[in-house]
Amino acid sequence: MTLTAKSVSRVALVSSLVAAVAGAAVLLAAPASGAASTLAAAAEQSGRYFGTAVAANKLGDSTYVGILNREFDMVTAENEMKMDATEPNQGQFSFSNGDRILNQARNQGKRVRGHALAWHSQQPGWMQNMSGSALRSAMLNHVTQVASYYKGKVYAWDVVNEAFADGGGGGRRDSNLQRTGNDWIEAAFRAARSADPNAKLCYNDYNTDNWSNAKTQGVYNMVRDFKSRGVPIDCVGFQAHFNSGNPVPSNYHTTLGNFAALGVDVQITELDIEGSGSGQAQQFQGVTQACLAVARCTGITVWGIRDSDSWRSSGTPLLFDGSGNKKAAYTSVLNALNSGGTGTNPTTTTTTTTTTPGEQPGGCTATYSEGQKWSDRFNGNVTVSGTDNWVVTVTVSSPQKVIATWNTSPSWDSSGNVMTARPNGSGNSFGFTIQHNGNWSWPSLTCSVG
Ligand code: XIL
Repeated sequence: MTLTAKSVSRVALVSSLVAAVAGAAVLLAAPASGAASTLAAAAEQSGRYFGTAVAANKLGDSTYVGILNREFDMVTAENEMKMDATEPNQGQFSFSNGDRILNQARNQGKRVRGHALAWHSQQPGWMQNMSGSALRSAMLNHVTQVASYYKGKVYAWDVVNEAFADGGGGGRRDSNLQRTGNDWIEAAFRAARSADPNAKLCYNDYNTDNWSNAKTQGVYNMVRDFKSRGVPIDCVGFQAHFNSGNPVPSNYHTTLGNFAALGVDVQITELDIEGSGSGQAQQFQGVTQACLAVARCTGITVWGIRDSDSWRSSGTPLLFDGSGNKKAAYTSVLNALNSGGTGTNPTTTTTTTTTTPGEQPGGCTATYSEGQKWSDRFNGNVTVSGTDNWVVTVTVSSPQKVIATWNTSPSWDSSGNVMTARPNGSGNSFGFTIQHNGNWSWPSLTCSVG
């Protein structure tokens, strides 16, 4: 009896060693890209950038600059390239603070998003009192001068900022610029294109995240109209300032995807989410996943580095605390970026292979490919190779739920998150529909021989 028990335990030990080796092989086979340890490096894996707003008066703060240099590869001047900063007196331009930010970024190999050429807010005093054709010319001159000065140095410009009204109508915001005529926006875009033909030209706004908002529809219709008439527009920025009264919408991915389908890039330009802990972390994760799910969502910018740097610091809406420590929100964004962008290459597949010790050598491979997507759900298909006698587990991340399957009759664990699928005579592939509930990440798979 004793001998038998010993030999049984020796067999068990050998089996678990084999399993450990098989597991190690799986880890080694995983893409090295999964290991990025900064926001920029993680975003770059899918060809995206991760940026932050920078304030010139913080460039002497070594903690601030340390995080900036380490984590971000895109920079927006928080205030220093706005109309009041760059043209304090009519016809007299001042670029010194904008240049400090731009040079610091470019010296570190980072790119710059210019913000903002024309806006109803933060206008210099002289402009606030202007109207009619004098204001129209002054605005166009400002766009031309500033875009020309920074020609070749900025990746993109927010050419026009916040020109649509809040509330139900979906129309333009009243402003001195709007009162110069409805074509002021396209005039600004044309002037910017002439001044810097290689900068991407963006329209930027807030409260345009929810596809059901009238404001979102208003901006969408303008972009569609611009594209149809050849008005030069390359991108749409979503500021993404969220709080409990204005949470991340569950249809964010739909909004980004629908704008992208017009033939423009989309970008999250001023992200901050008031809150703390895991609730805040989940919302940041949702925004990151929404961007990753859209091929033309080219990057995310947060509106500041530490909570104490924020324009609404009492809401602690950023990824680093006041001491520069990484928050839970930071980790959730980094992990989401490391999980990969489905949008860049929708046919990319994820593969996990596990060999069961003592069973058929060679094991099997389960390959995931993304299927159709809707606002609330998406399809996934799995193809198995290596054996006809497979057992595939599909693990979805809460709050996702599998709501339909085909070509298999799965069993479930008690959490409802792990589905075990076997062949049911339909061949070596099966599929399912996942209701995402705001989480767009792909399921993880294991394959073993049954
Ligand atoms: C904010 C800055 O963060 C503040 O420092 C400043 O006092 C006001 O402007 N939408 C925009 C940004 O496009 O330019 C704003 O930045 C925040 C809202």
